Amino acid sequence: MRTIDQLDSPAVLVDLDVVERNISTMAKRAEGLGVELRPHAKTHKTVEIGRKQLQAGAVGLSVAKVGEAEVFADAGFEDIFVAYPVIGAQKARRLLGLAERIRLLVGVDSVEGATGLAAPFQAAGRELEVRLKVDVGFHRVGVAPDKAVETARRIAEVPGLRLEGIFTHAGQSYRADSPEAVAEVGRHEGETMVEVARQLAASGIGVTSVSVGSTPTAPHAMKVSGVTECRPGNYVYHDATQVSLGTCRRDDCAMTVLATVVSTPAPDRAVIDAGSKTLASDPLRPGSGGFGWIQGGSSHLARLSEEHGVIEVAEADRYAIGDRVRVLPNHACVVSNLHDRVYGVRGEGIEAELAVAARGRVS
Ligand SMILES: Cc1ncc(COP(=O)(O)O)c(C=O)c1O
Repeated sequence: MRTIDQLDSPAVLVDLDVVERNISTMAKRAEGLGVELRPHAKTHKTVEIGRKQLQAGAVGLSVAKVGEAEVFADAGFEDIFVAYPVIGAQKARRLLGLAERIRLLVGVDSVEGATGLAAPFQAAGRELEVRLKVDVGFHRVGVAPDKAVETARRIAEVPGLRLEGIFTHAGQSYRADSPEAVAEVGRHEGETMVEVARQLAASGIGVTSVSVGSTPTAPHAMKVSGVTECRPGNYVYHDATQVSLGTCRRDDCAMTVLATVVSTPAPDRAVIDAGSKTLASDPLRPGSGGFGWIQGGSSHLARLSEEHGVIEVAEADRYAIGDRVRVLPNHACVVSNLHDRVYGVRGEGIEAELAVAARGRVS
C-alpha cells in the first residue's frame, strides 16, 4: 500500500475512518429522530463518498447545480434534489433529461422561476417535482414565511409542476457566537418550517417534505416534530470553521491538505507550497483565525497568496525547509472544488484515490 510520505505536495487527504464515523453519526441521529437524510454532496463531490452516505441510509443526495446532478445521475444515483432556485430554459431542458432517468426534485423560490421550468415538462406531458424555498433568517434566497402560502398556491397551479415540499437552509448559524446560539437558530429553523407546513395544510396545499439543513443546525432542527428531512453537507469532512463554531472536535475533521515548507525567511515565518489556489481563501467563521490551522502544533496560516501560504510560527513550533505539514482548512467544501482528486487515507496508508467527479460543475 502506498503511504502518505510517497505523495508529492500539495495534496488533499481525507481520513476515511473519520469520514465513515461522521456519516454514521449523522445517519444514526437522523434515524433516531425519524428524519430522512439527504446529504448535500457539494462538500465532497465524489461518487464513492455519496455511495457511503446512501449505504448508511440516506434517501438520496442534495446538490446545488444541475451539472452536479448530472454527474451523480451518470454514476447511478437515482434520487437527487437540486436544492437551488434553478432558472432558465436551457437548464429546464437539462432537468427534463434528468427527470426522465432519475427521481428529480428541484428548488424554486418564485412563481416566475418555477413557471420557466415548467414549459418543457408540460410539453412532454410530465410533472416536475418542486420544493419551495423558505427563508428562515439567512436572508439569501427563499420566500419570507408569511409569503409562503400565497407563493405556494400560485406555484401549485402551474401546469407541469407538482409542489412536493418546502425547504430551507439556516446559513445564519455560521454567524452564531456560541453553541447555544447555534441551537437556537436550529430550533427556529425547524419550528418556522413546521409552522409554514401547517399553514399550507390549512389552506388545502398539502406538502410531503419539510426539509431543513445545515451542519451546525442539523441536530437541533431535526428534533422539531414535523421536520421530515435534513440536508447537512459539511459534516462529512468538517473543517476549522465547524471546530470554531463548536459543532465538532478537531479529531472529527477528515480533510487536511498536505503541504511542504518551501521557505523559512524569519524565525516567526515559514512558507508552504499551498496558497489560495489550493486551500481557498474563505475566512474562518466565526471570528478571524487566519486561513488554516497547522496540525500538530498551534501555528496557523496568517496569509495566503495564490501559491504561498504564510505560517505565523507559534513560539513552541519549529519548521525547517522541506518539512511536510498538514493544514486543516477553514472551509472543506471549497477545497474539494479546487482539486481533481483527493486521497482516501487510513493512518499513514493511502487506500483510495477518489476523483472529485463533480468539481467545477458550476452550471
Ligand atoms: C440549500 C443548502 N442546503 C444544505 C446545505 C448544507 O449546509 P452545510 O454545508 O452547513 O452542511 C447548504 C450549504 O450551503 C445549502 O446551501
